Amino acid sequence: MLGLCFHTKKLSGRVKISGSKNAALPILAATLLTDEKCVIRNVPDLEDVRITFALLRKMGKRIKFENNTVEVKGRLRNGALPEKLVRKLRASVLVMGPVLSRLGEGSFALPGGCALGERPIDIHLKGLKAMGASYSVLRGRMLFRNQRLKGAHIKLSFPSVGATENLLMAASCASGVSLIENAAVEPEIIDLCRFLKAMGASIKSAGSSYTVSGSPVLGGADFTVMPDRIEAGTFILAAAAVGGKVRIDGAEPDHLKALIKKLKASGVKINEKANSLIIIPPKITKPINIITGPYPEFPTDLQPLWAVYMLRAAGVSRIKDKIFPARFMYVDELKRLGAAMALKNAVLVINKSILSGTNLRACDLRAASAMIIAGLMADGQTRVYELRHLFRGYENFFGKLRKLGANVSMEKVKK
Ligand code: EPU
Repeated sequence: MLGLCFHTKKLSGRVKISGSKNAALPILAATLLTDEKCVIRNVPDLEDVRITFALLRKMGKRIKFENNTVEVKGRLRNGALPEKLVRKLRASVLVMGPVLSRLGEGSFALPGGCALGERPIDIHLKGLKAMGASYSVLRGRMLFRNQRLKGAHIKLSFPSVGATENLLMAASCASGVSLIENAAVEPEIIDLCRFLKAMGASIKSAGSSYTVSGSPVLGGADFTVMPDRIEAGTFILAAAAVGGKVRIDGAEPDHLKALIKKLKASGVKINEKANSLIIIPPKITKPINIITGPYPEFPTDLQPLWAVYMLRAAGVSRIKDKIFPARFMYVDELKRLGAAMALKNAVLVINKSILSGTNLRACDLRAASAMIIAGLMADGQTRVYELRHLFRGYENFFGKLRKLGANVSMEKVKK
């Protein structure tokens, strides 16, 4: 599939935000902590979610998915994670915590690198080791020996989102109490904690620490996933970059404070309501620098979109990514549209640019949405190839953009 984007003068209207991908993935992994039925609502229909279903099925679960509601049933039988699925989905490492705390053993293919740069899992493994897990590596797989996990005091060397989620799940069914310090506090993790608590887990959070009292069994739960703050941020930045008044429904403004602050500084007017935001872009955009960091700092997932927005700013702006310092693979592609951007010592420097359409290749999920929005700003026609990256993380992206008046469509790539 490729995306066809034509110059669009402005966006207008309303867009409804879907359930959060990055909350749904760990919550689906957490269903492995019980053999009872779980019903999870507001689950976005995405490639990454479907791969997670395949993974859960391999481990013994039965899945029914209809109208964004998933029913997960069945006993966790198999603790072996196949390489094919691990390669397809990095978040598959999230089943390690639940599997080890339930079964005490497992065999997981090592995840590879990805377009965002090196992505080690040492923080996950160090935490699991502190809880008593031990493993050896054989033919690209980590083999965990039969060992019941015990509660432990773990201080993360960096507040990794995935490691925090893995360890919270592991601690929920381990024996004894765990204290996880210097942990991540992203809203998706708080949503996972809410789900674990609904399953009967005992979790207390204070600042960047979590205290978890393990219990041998958790029960089923009926739960609704939070709205996707990165999807909301994407449409907010689409409106700011392309222009036009857009209303974002179903978003949680509290989760978007860092973005809203920077947008206001750049001149965007934002009317915040309980569950919606109205975005009114300025006539002249001020250049604003951003540095990404762990929540509540500016999210790394929105930096490629901020870069595209800053192409219309009257002056020079800069981006530094503290989470994925190499997340600038999209820059060379945007340059092909005429974007005046350059990387200097891992800082992206952006100048006001007039864009003209050409062929681009998406390199990751957020780069894909950034390229499509840049394509709407550019004169003429832009083709964005490798759209599969987009389908991994956005539900009905083209449909939602079209509803806002964007001139976009999808086409099959001719072989
Ligand atoms: N890191 C380590 N060792 C580890 C784990 C992480 O060095 O054991 C490093 C990473 O290499 C990276 C940094 O720590 O430089 C942050 O990684 P983190 O573990 O926090 O990220 P993640 O759990 O792999 C999640 C999201 C990403 C999002 C990041 C940062 C999911 C499924 N993925 O990844 O989302 O960018 O947190 O907020 O929740 C996306 O949705 O497009 C996406 C990439």
